[in-house]
Amino acid sequence: MDFKERVRDAADITKVIGEVVRLRKTGPNRYIGLCPFHQEKTPSFNVHGDRQFYYCFGCQKGGDVFRFVEEIEGLGFFDALKSLAERHGIPLPQRHSFDDETSRERDALLRMQEIALQHFQESMSAEVQRYLKARHLSDGAVCDFSLGYAPAGSVLSRIFQREGFTPAEMFGSGLIVQRDDGSPYDRFRNRVMFPIHNEQGKAIAFGGRALGDDEPKYLNSSETKLYTKKRVLFNLHRAKETIRRLDYTILVEGYMDVIGLFQAGVTNVVASCGTALSEDHVRALRRHSERIAMNFDPDSAGVQAAERSVQMLLEESMKIRILTLEGGLDPDEYVAQNGVESYRARVEAADGYFHWLAARAREKFDMKSAEGRMEGFREMLRPALERVPDKLERLAVVNDLAQFLGVDARAILEQMKMDGKRPKASGAPALPVITANESLLIRGMLEHPPAAAEIAGQLRDLESWKALPCAKIVETAMGLAAEGALIYETLDARLSEGDRRLLAAAVFADKTPEGVVEGQLQACVASIRHADSQRRMKETRDQVRTLEREGRHEEAMALMSSLETRGDKTQTPRTEQRNECLG
Ligand code: UTP
Ligand code: MN
Repeated sequence: MDFKERVRDAADITKVIGEVVRLRKTGPNRYIGLCPFHQEKTPSFNVHGDRQFYYCFGCQKGGDVFRFVEEIEGLGFFDALKSLAERHGIPLPQRHSFDDETSRERDALLRMQEIALQHFQESMSAEVQRYLKARHLSDGAVCDFSLGYAPAGSVLSRIFQREGFTPAEMFGSGLIVQRDDGSPYDRFRNRVMFPIHNEQGKAIAFGGRALGDDEPKYLNSSETKLYTKKRVLFNLHRAKETIRRLDYTILVEGYMDVIGLFQAGVTNVVASCGTALSEDHVRALRRHSERIAMNFDPDSAGVQAAERSVQMLLEESMKIRILTLEGGLDPDEYVAQNGVESYRARVEAADGYFHWLAARAREKFDMKSAEGRMEGFREMLRPALERVPDKLERLAVVNDLAQFLGVDARAILEQMKMDGKRPKASGAPALPVITANESLLIRGMLEHPPAAAEIAGQLRDLESWKALPCAKIVETAMGLAAEGALIYETLDARLSEGDRRLLAAAVFADKTPEGVVEGQLQACVASIRHADSQRRMKETRDQVRTLEREGRHEEAMALMSSLETRGDKTQTPRTEQRNECLG
């Protein structure tokens, strides 16, 4: 078996996708979830374990396990293949016959991060250890998070040179900067180093904190082919399991907050790294849970960041709580001072987002007067309310807010009608219509390729199926069956967009639990044959009638007798095997 097929065999598509998308079982080996590739409220992303294929009826993206990894991790085919092989413990072939330029470049980039990580860890000094202790980090946490130290000077540049990396590779690593004279020097000097990993757990960049008062306080790797700030969440690879189990994420601002909470046992915690929360971040979070507790710093920058982030979270229909810690404490400081149980209790008691906003409106506007209340609503709450995509949810929030603010819900609804623009809710897309028997025929062929090859010969001589909406799919499947290459992926790849949707509807939207038995496939053919003969008989009868009307009785008689002999040949199939609506 060739390498690709070995990897395909080992990498079950439902497991691979299940690790990054929450899937709900809809049938034996069939799953559905919210599509990771477009925004939607109702799941239309389907995974079929038997066919080893996924398909989204909303955005039409579909493919096999390799395609999925390519899309979700932004990799080329070879790197997707390698990534899956590694994860499933399949050694890469000695000679990388499949290595290409991008793949080699990515390898070099990843290797440089590994080397840097080790270098930073080895450079850890007593002074840095004292600093981390003073900030309440345990030795265990320092080790778990692979924290390190970038010494002053340009040590890393020299290591990279010694290891034989080209200048282009070095400058592409995000860790080395080019001087005016072209020579390299280290981006991180005299900083505590926090490795940043991608969702698969590979180190792809670093954040570095100044030890003294150097500016900026935090510095990140520059963006590289591995690292895009707005896509990466710090600690997601460690946190995602707990996020799923507890069904919520705690979002904090800084590296130290994440580590402080994590070492105290609050492990469903992530942070964006030195950038505002982005749409990509939100989508990555939502793949694991729809519930989120935001615990930003209580300073004004933190509050503003919370307000901005929330707008985005609302648009993705996340369920948001806002946690503000008293005493102006950052999450890491709070846990260090008050203990983890107290923190957990604070998360439990955190306000829903609209209450938090309403409370802020109360601070800013005169809530004693009706005008003040309406103004507070207009300025602060309405913009957020309008981002709730679901109508019913919006109504529920309006009622809730009305009570909280002490205004009439109808007044709020009136206000909202004033400008009609509202984001449109994304319901489930309409599925293409396919009859049960067409679906049966297609699924039968896919499930029994040898039988499909057999019936292909019979179908070729028949006519009635050629007018069916699924004709092109059946024809293509017949061709592939003859080549011995009939699998979902190949069939899908040969079809037009419309036919791909129809094929997916036949296979994914099918609700019947049991597979198609070969006898049903034969019955389909028999039914098509029957439809064919019925049609021919009707045609002949019409002809006979025309001839008689024209007084050409002898010709009519001759035709009649030919009809009778033919009728003998095309016997109708046994009724219990017949599929009535095919043809
Ligand atoms: P803060 O300035 O609130 O840092 O920035 P902090 O977590 O309280 O830092 P400590 O506790 O003093 O070490 C929060 C986050 O914003 C980003 C970093 O990701 C930081 O963790 N940031 C901050 C930067 O990227 N650059 C900066 O200069 C400052
Ligand atoms: Mn802090």
